[in-house]
Amino acid sequence: MPSFRAFASVLLGLSVAPLVLSAFVPGFPYGSEKVRGVNLGGWLVLEPWITPSLFDNTGDTRIVDEWTFGQYQDRNVAEAALQSHWNTWITEADFADIAAAGLNHVRLPIGYWAFEVGPGEPYIQGQLPYLQKAVTWAGKHGLKVIIDLHGAPGSQNGFDNSGERLQSPGWHSNATNVHRTDAIMQTIVSMFASQTNVVPIIAPLNEPAGYDGQAVLTTTAQYWLDSYQTIRNPGGTSEPSNTVQLIHDAFQPLSYWTGFETGPNFYGVAMDTHIYQVFSNAEVAMSPQDHINAACSTSLTGLNVWLIVGEWSPARTDCATYLNGRGVGARYDGSRPGSSRVGSCQGLTGSAKTFSSSYKTFLRQFWEAQVISYEKGGDGWLQWTWKAESADDWSYQAGLANGWIPQDPTDLKYPNICG
Ligand SMILES: *[C@@H]1O[C@H](CO)[C@@H](O)[C@H](O)[C@H]1NC(C)=O
Repeated sequence: MPSFRAFASVLLGLSVAPLVLSAFVPGFPYGSEKVRGVNLGGWLVLEPWITPSLFDNTGDTRIVDEWTFGQYQDRNVAEAALQSHWNTWITEADFADIAAAGLNHVRLPIGYWAFEVGPGEPYIQGQLPYLQKAVTWAGKHGLKVIIDLHGAPGSQNGFDNSGERLQSPGWHSNATNVHRTDAIMQTIVSMFASQTNVVPIIAPLNEPAGYDGQAVLTTTAQYWLDSYQTIRNPGGTSEPSNTVQLIHDAFQPLSYWTGFETGPNFYGVAMDTHIYQVFSNAEVAMSPQDHINAACSTSLTGLNVWLIVGEWSPARTDCATYLNGRGVGARYDGSRPGSSRVGSCQGLTGSAKTFSSSYKTFLRQFWEAQVISYEKGGDGWLQWTWKAESADDWSYQAGLANGWIPQDPTDLKYPNICG
């Protein structure tokens, strides 16, 4: 092939790039069909707020993330709890239900420690067979999978959902950490190289903490360029893959990334942005109508790569237990240090049985406003998250069961909510 291309380009006076471009057939028609999906949060990467029982059952309040889950309890106990969790939290039936709900993608977070654990790191392994099963089940039910590296060595953001809850995350400032991440990306790419129809897109790192400053952004940009090569040119040859690279905006305005990974040497790139309205005092103080207005006026323009809203939620408070971390309260009811009380969390999270009909109407309207906005301005969306033990406001499954999420995501009750 390469020699043919060289020959053809001499003969026809063409550059090589258009020939390569014409061969690029991603496993999902990004840009012409909308991504509609859910995240499989809290499965292969633990999150205290998604499964508070796993953490409460330890009886040890020092256990706040997956690192301490392995560190502060008997290894056999921890391993048994994880195995049972991996076996039950998401099963093939979930993939069937997700497909039946008219969705076309799942985003599946995985931590680096599923692939490689360094000396002194207390992580417990065993996730990989479930990752493989998930891809098999997705294929069987016609769903596409975004493999999403959600935790890197040293932690890229210090969030508990990176594996390690830390004040000063250390991924970006330590070249060993970054090299380990590069190697894991190569492993992930080779694991799924022959299944690009089911894994058409890979996200090399979730939410690097770009707000921490230029050093993080510099490391992140270089890592995006390096993982572009790994994902798009896995053989290091002129024969590119069909896999799309999904990079994250690192919490920068989209305009920060204008021109990044564009031009004749780049294609098959998508940008991931995450949109929540609950992680500041000002946002939880917004009225329900303010939340809907903010969703409607979300601007997603300015990039010429595909844009996917890879995380968002119809929640309008941070009331979900442990959402801000195990042992940390909520801004909404003033129980988080540094917040001022907006109101009671009663009836706003937990079981949908406690939700008023007007709150459920709000959830439907807010959900629809976001779907409309993200499909209009972007190439689709994935809600965070498919299920949660006791935070139905965040749960796609609970939304379907209780009527604030339609059985078909295009079947809107409020199609004109954004005017
Ligand atoms: C860098 O990270 C590695 C683990 O990936 C660790 O072993 C090493 O001590 C770190 N180096 C520094 C200077 O912190």
